[in-house]
Amino acid sequence: MNKIITTSFLSALFIITISCESQKGKTLSEAFSDDYTVGAALNVQLLQGINKKTDSIVRKHYNSIVAENCMKSMFIQPVEGEFAWVDADRFVDYGEKNNMEIVGHTLVWHAMAPDWFFVDSVGNDVSRDVLIQRMKTHIEAVVGRYKGRIHGWDVVNEAIDGPDGVRQSKWQTIIGDDYIEMAFKMAHEADPDAELYYNDYSMYEPKRREAGLRIVKNLLAKGIRIDGVGFQAHYGLDVPLVEVEKSIVAFGELGLKVMITELDLSALPFPSEEVTAEVSTDVAYQEKFNPYKEGLPTDIKNRWSQTYIDLFKLFTKHSKYISRVTFWGVNDTESWKNDWPIKGRTDYPLLFDRAYKEKSVVQSLVQLSYKN
Ligand code: GLA
Repeated sequence: MNKIITTSFLSALFIITISCESQKGKTLSEAFSDDYTVGAALNVQLLQGINKKTDSIVRKHYNSIVAENCMKSMFIQPVEGEFAWVDADRFVDYGEKNNMEIVGHTLVWHAMAPDWFFVDSVGNDVSRDVLIQRMKTHIEAVVGRYKGRIHGWDVVNEAIDGPDGVRQSKWQTIIGDDYIEMAFKMAHEADPDAELYYNDYSMYEPKRREAGLRIVKNLLAKGIRIDGVGFQAHYGLDVPLVEVEKSIVAFGELGLKVMITELDLSALPFPSEEVTAEVSTDVAYQEKFNPYKEGLPTDIKNRWSQTYIDLFKLFTKHSKYISRVTFWGVNDTESWKNDWPIKGRTDYPLLFDRAYKEKSVVQSLVQLSYKN
């Protein structure tokens, strides 16, 4: 009996050692290849060839990319009818050249949209029909240009806000709630093979989860194509994992792909519970909110690494629902978190440091992938 137990124990140990060895040297996307793609948002410096160090990290570790800014309407159609394709073309070429999953971001969003979209020549709001036509022209042009080359589009970004869950953006107030379904239908017509996603922040909050479920269930009930939902995942050290899990399951059970689309983990104190992930937030600088200018203390560093590990354990536990995990950027220097929600701080949200060096958590994540 003892001999049997000892033999089984040794065999198990042997298998674990072999698996562990086989993980060594793997990149992030290789390590999670059975579970989901792993990606990053690319900035224009990388696409323009200026940022070689970031470029080599991306090509080594990631098999999925999203455009950080260059496909947003204020950049791609800054003036009505004048499209600026250069960086977006570079983005799609980059993904194809490196055989990556290419995600377009984003077609309809209240922020980073040029003013002309919503007003007439004298500055009054346009009519519902005019805005619908402008939305259609935009979606047809942008989705149409990359037809057959983009794996999936973030069609509508951040439609949820306030107690009733309906953001009163210009899209909503001028067109009505049905702007969401129109956008999905238009995107589907422009590229019938592209996947289509709804993307939003703080999707772990129960009220926002409910509002998101209402949006996607409405599309599903009407037979409008929607393939997945994106949780932006701009998290802090107190991210409520139990609630994140509930949201993954709630959307996954509807048959939708769940994507972690803009993952970063701030190590800094959050200024107030009142601040949401709204991009226009700008809180005044105070030294007490920028405590780690010279580096993270060990306890915070450990807590930060452990939170990333816990998040990836959760993602892998639910890999039947999760199709992609994308980081919002590549290294700490270039992260938007240094300037949001307070400008000029030193934050540590990503997996590569200010010297473009891999943080130790990368190997912890790679090792983790075989245990789940
Ligand atoms: C939101 C958007 C992203 C990006 C971040 C902040 O999450 O979806 O495109 O603008 O805000 O950088």
